[in-house]
Formats: sequence, C-alpha cells, structure tokens
Amino acid sequence: MLQKLEEVKKEFDASIDAVGSMPDMAQFKADYLGKKGKLNALMGGMRDLSDDDKKNFGARANEVKQEMLDAIDRRSQAIEIDAINEKLAENRMDISWTNKISDLGQQAAGLHPLTSVTRELEDIFLSMGFDILDGPHIEDEYHNFEALNIPESHPARDMQDTFWFKDGEHLLRTHTSNIQIRGMEVKKPPFKFVGPGKVFRCETLDASHEAAFHQLEGMMVGEDISVPHMIHFLRTLLSEIFKAEIKVRLRPGFFPFVEPGFELDYECMLCGGKGCSVCKQVGWVEALGCGMVHPNVLRSGGIDPDKWNGFAFGMGIDRLTMMRYHIDDVRHLHSGNLQFSEQFRAY
Ligand code: PHE
Repeated sequence: MLQKLEEVKKEFDASIDAVGSMPDMAQFKADYLGKKGKLNALMGGMRDLSDDDKKNFGARANEVKQEMLDAIDRRSQAIEIDAINEKLAENRMDISWTNKISDLGQQAAGLHPLTSVTRELEDIFLSMGFDILDGPHIEDEYHNFEALNIPESHPARDMQDTFWFKDGEHLLRTHTSNIQIRGMEVKKPPFKFVGPGKVFRCETLDASHEAAFHQLEGMMVGEDISVPHMIHFLRTLLSEIFKAEIKVRLRPGFFPFVEPGFELDYECMLCGGKGCSVCKQVGWVEALGCGMVHPNVLRSGGIDPDKWNGFAFGMGIDRLTMMRYHIDDVRHLHSGNLQFSEQFRAY
C-alpha cells in the first residue's frame, strides 16, 4: 500500500509540470485529490490494514496530500504568471511613445504672451486688493475725451490719431482711460481698480507702433493720497512683474486728466542701464503715464475733489511683454503667426 502511495506520488511529481492551464490544473487536481481521485482510491484500501500500518499509511498519505496541494499551488501560480506575461507580450505598450500632439499633426494650445502678461498683472493687482473692471472698445466722445478733461482743441482728438465712426460721436477708444470714467460711475470712494484692454490709434506701423495695442489702466481714490504713494506703488508693481528690484525715474508728462502728470521710466532690464538696442541706447524704458487725478475728472465722476484725491496710471502692455520675452518687433504680437506663438507654449 505504502509503495503504491509512493508510486502515485512519483507519477504526480513527474506529470504536474506538463499541466499548462488552469482548467487542466482543476482536472489534474481532481484526478489525484478529488473524491474519486487516486489518493482517495488508495485510502479506500486502508480498512484492510493492521492498526500500525493504518497509522503509518495514514500519516504518510496526509503528508503526500499536503505536498500535492503545495505543488498544485506553486504550479498554478506559475501558470498564471505565464498567462500574464503572454498577455503583456501580445498587447505590448511602447511607454517611450510621447503622445506629442504634434505627432498627430496638430498644434498644442497655449496662451498668447500678451494674455499671459495681462493675467499676471491682474493677479498682482488682485493680490493688492484692486478690482478688475472692463470698458467698451467702441466708446463715445464723452468717456474717451470730455470727461477726462480733454478739451476739443487737444491734439489727441485730431482725426489722425483717432478712429472715428461716421456719426462723429463714437470712436475706437484711444486709451483705457475711459475705464476711469466708467469705474467712477459705478464705484463710491475709496476704491482702487485696474482695467486692461485693447486700444486703437491711427498710427503708421513700425517695429514699435501698432494701430491696435494694449494698455492697463489703474485708478486709486481715497483720502490724502500723494505722489510718493504713487511712486512706491508703481515701483513695487514693476518689481513684481520683472521679479527683481527695479529702478524707476519720473519725468514730467502732460496728460489733461492728471495734475501733476508724469511719465515713468524703468531702467532697461537687458543692459542694466548701459544702453542697448532694446532701450535705444538710453538705458531707460518708458513704462507708463501717471499722475494725480485732475479735480475736473473727479467731478465728472461725481466725486468731491475737496474730500477725495488719488492717482491714475496707464501702462502699455505690449512693450512690457516685449521686454519680458525679449521680443524685438511689436508686429509679431499681432501677426497670428503660429511659429511665433508656439514659442510661448511653455509659459
Ligand atoms: N491714457 C494715457 C495714454 O494713453 C496714459 C495715462 C493714464 C496717463 C492715466 C496718466 C494717467 O498715454
């Protein structure tokens, strides 16, 4: 009996590695360990054995059974791993494939550099507690000129600078300063807001002049606001934009809607003030017009100039963007050329 048991075990050991699939394994297991399996058949003969032999046989049979179960487990695992490997080989995935959109003949979308810079400016102003306002591109004479203390005789109203509509009353706004007036119409002081947007002037185009360009208007009205407040504020702003300490200088500048009025320059980032082609050898770059809001402008906004005052500024976004990304011709910005725009995808 014992010998038969060892034979069955030997046969089991010799054939288990040939079992190649889980269904075959189930069958194989039943053949040996099932109710009608080979092991049970032997156990059936136990009753004819002496008590001692019964004990010996029983003990060995249990061992054999356990060894078989272990072997079946091991072999089953191996079969499953083989099956997984086979599947992997069939559905081989090339993980070095970058899935670049350009491989599919398409361009990845990205922000235009002007959009990125405008958004960055908005974030800076939002963090300083400013609201962001909008104003219309098509504006009336009142909001673009009159309410801003620009008299009829002012050269800014000259037909050559302004795109007028045929009705003679509407125009394409020549600056974002209309947002000052629009803002005062909806806000009570104290307030501070900025308004970015497109502006239009009838200009001869060259490397630094476009007929449509971008400005960001700012206005802060409160009590006892002074020129040093304005300078400190604008310097902080430029340092935030360029992520460096920026030197600024003020020059007197005439804008009918501010008094006193200034032009603010910053030291050229590219040459450190030594003079280069970007700053046209002067070492300084014009950043913006600014000044203390003219009492007449406050009055047009229904604000009492004896009680309130403040500053306003209007900065060109195109020039700033060019400085920031070392773009040497403003016309690139409006070219619609994808080869140009693609360079900024990462920003
Ligand atoms: N609107 C002026 C321009 O377009 C800029 C400016 C805005 C100046 C606000 C002073 C105050 O040049």
